Amino acid sequence: MDLKNIRRQFPALGRLAGGKKLVYLDNACSVLKPRKVIRAVSHYLSALGACAGGRSGHLLSAAVEELCHEARAKTAAFLGAETPSEIIFTSGTTEGLNLAAKCFPFTKAKNEVVLTAFDHHSNLLPFLEEQKRGRVKVRIAGLEGGWQLGADRITSLIGPRTALVSLPLASNVTGQAFGLEEVVRQARRRGAVVLADAAQYLSTNRVDVRAAGIDMLAFSGHKLGGPPGTGVLYCRSGLMRRLGNFKVGGGTVLDVVLKGGLPEARYFADCRRFEAGIQNYAGIIGLGAAIDFLLETGIGLIKERTSGLAALCRARLAGVEEVELLGPPQAPASPIVAFSFRNPKTCAQDFNIFLNNELPRHFICARCGSHCAIPLHRSRGVKQSLRASFFVYNTESEVRLFCDALGQFLESAA
Ligand code: ALA
Repeated sequence: MDLKNIRRQFPALGRLAGGKKLVYLDNACSVLKPRKVIRAVSHYLSALGACAGGRSGHLLSAAVEELCHEARAKTAAFLGAETPSEIIFTSGTTEGLNLAAKCFPFTKAKNEVVLTAFDHHSNLLPFLEEQKRGRVKVRIAGLEGGWQLGADRITSLIGPRTALVSLPLASNVTGQAFGLEEVVRQARRRGAVVLADAAQYLSTNRVDVRAAGIDMLAFSGHKLGGPPGTGVLYCRSGLMRRLGNFKVGGGTVLDVVLKGGLPEARYFADCRRFEAGIQNYAGIIGLGAAIDFLLETGIGLIKERTSGLAALCRARLAGVEEVELLGPPQAPASPIVAFSFRNPKTCAQDFNIFLNNELPRHFICARCGSHCAIPLHRSRGVKQSLRASFFVYNTESEVRLFCDALGQFLESAA
């Protein structure tokens, strides 16, 4: 697909505000939705609307069941999972990581969790909560100086008591990756499990969970162009059987038997145990369509285009004295470029407002703040950063517009 055709797939790109054109550079937060996803969701809402599965056993629910099953099978194939039953549908990465933290079978002898200074709060906070409950001891691999965090720094914390290593496949602030291969090798040597936070990775990179040796992996549908409120926790089936329960209720049990006059539940061993109650069928079907869109467009093409845009942006910003680029100089795994202002009086929030309101023909949507990664910002003495992140529909002229806007903002602030 050429760029024009790709852009046509995203109706939101045609949106105007006060006659100004949209430049969308907040793709690490959420990717805009392609027509394929909109059609899939709309089909469910307008033509189906029923629940899936054996609950009702009528024609509509059979049709929903089939579409949800297809979405699960697509997701399993997309990740390289062994079977679709290893795919737990969630409301997003946050729920997947909470589920992993809450349900993981920690023991007294194996209760340590290794995290990194780059973790999003969604990975950090669930394990801190488990630490408060006395179930785990959290160890955090900190920065080595500058923005580097090599695999050795992480593996040096893996010991005989390590139960789980949970790390982002790419940082949501800098886009960098952290030597997954070495982490997996050392974790396996110590009998520890690897949980991957793939939230910032899968819109521009492929992963094969079995080839990579990843035991659990969480991601969000909306960051792939799917509907918000959708996500996946992949869990290797041998490990899934050992997880505790998360939410329980309808659809999670094989049977409820009476034992000594009291009901006792016999739960499913697979993904169904974690999907209690009526599910987000429209979202699940839309997520399947988002994966179709990525594969049809070609992750290779998406990667090539977005890496080029990120490199162009970094190169332009590297020449601007007033800003500090966050992250190491190497090209990041995901197309994310964040920076802070060297002068503490220049505020990233003001630049964000400038991007939205002060350009004559465009409004630029980027993200400003600490991006749910306060520990990382604090450890580098940065209060706030401005983040631009790219997807396949972005263009070089949008990057130039963004960088020119920075120049204009600095001039107006001087
Ligand atoms: N985790 C998302 C981000 O980094 C919301 O923007």
